[in-house]
Amino acid sequence: MHDPRISVILGDITTVAADAIANAANTSLLGGGGVDGAIHRAAGPELLAECRTLHGCETGKAKITKGYHLPAKYVLHTPGPIWRGGGQGEAALLAGCYRSCLELALSHGCRTVAFPSISTGVYHFPLELASAIAVKTVADVLREHPEDFDWVCFVCFDPHTKSAYDRALASAP
Ligand code: APR
Repeated sequence: MHDPRISVILGDITTVAADAIANAANTSLLGGGGVDGAIHRAAGPELLAECRTLHGCETGKAKITKGYHLPAKYVLHTPGPIWRGGGQGEAALLAGCYRSCLELALSHGCRTVAFPSISTGVYHFPLELASAIAVKTVADVLREHPEDFDWVCFVCFDPHTKSAYDRALASAP
């Protein structure tokens, strides 16, 4: 039975009133398309202005900003790995995205966190593997911090993505 604090929903992460939402960014942190573009559009121009002060972020790590016009208080910007066949440490880097985001959320007192499906869009990370890594990493961190989070949800933008995360969550120990 998986941790009841973890859930999967179908929706648009820019509408989720979590303490923090994660952004599938790139290493420049200067915006882009996909969920990165949606988050910047919804947050407004102050988000980019704050991102400029961060001087980028390494793949697999995360940096935090305010949420501005988003319902979320914070945005956790994390560049996921670009899929290059699986032999370049992509799995560990993707796990690092989820772990870095949750550790950053913890240090800022965030008890509710929402994630998009990091790296499975433009970065072409295979969805089945990515969702398994995402769910396992989140479950591991929540197990290490039984008191520190109320909920963590995966916000999937389409039914195909949602069914992969539902399967990953259903098979989580
Ligand atoms: N809410 C939730 N999920 C979304 C939203 C949204 N509003 N918009 C897109 N998504 C989903 C996509 O459908 C996909 O399932 O986010 C997932 C990640 O896809 P991308 O946004 O393409 O992110 P990624 O594959 O990590 O590529 C990152 O794309 O946008 C650029 O600047 C970004 O260079 C970076 C790269």
